[in-house]
Amino acid sequence: MRFLVTVLFLTAMTVSAQDAAPKQGGGRGGPPKNLKVLKPEDERPVMGAMRGALGQQCNFCHVRGDNASDEIPKKLVARKMMEMVNDINAKFPDGKVHVSCYTCHRGKTTPDMVPPPAAPPAQ
Ligand code: HEC
Ligand code: HEC
Repeated sequence: MRFLVTVLFLTAMTVSAQDAAPKQGGGRGGPPKNLKVLKPEDERPVMGAMRGALGQQCNFCHVRGDNASDEIPKKLVARKMMEMVNDINAKFPDGKVHVSCYTCHRGKTTPDMVPPPAAPPAQ
């Protein structure tokens, strides 16, 4: 799973879908029509990975029945986060992808800033 996410963000980093020719359709099951970061072939697996990384369902970010809509603000945050993750990974000197949504989110919508109170202090 970790490997899958890694590969996906690597491919997502290399091409902006805005460079691609406009697509027809885009309803449920049709080709995507509002991708600004991902390549079309990455859309499906990345959506599943994000759902798991944040511990949410598709409708956390999407209007039901209209995945192309940007109406839900969480989707815009998620798109910014995709760009941030790509930027972070681009800074690693080995050219590999080391950071995914899950690296920070761990199944939560808002990552923890501090360890839980019960955790023993780090030595
Ligand atoms: C954390 C937020 C988030 C979750 C959860 C999420 N998505 Fe997305 N989804 C996005 C973002 C952001 C984009 C646009 C990506 C881009 O601009 O390249 C997108 C794009 C899409 C698209 C392309 C729509 C179009 O026509 O452009 C489809 C289809 C889609 N998501 C389906 C799903 C499905 C199915 C799920 C649940 C398995 C899901 N998404 C979960 C954020 C999310
Ligand atoms: C470097 C750590 C980090 C990574 C990696 C990261 N995030 Fe985040 N994300 C955060 C933090 C911190 C917040 C909370 C920001 C705040 O409180 O304003 C956040 C908030 C969000 C939110 C808003 C949640 C809410 O309930 O408002 C979404 C959606 C989100 N991230 C999606 C993603 C997605 C999708 C990815 C992978 C493409 C990702 N994040 C990768 C740190 C990260």
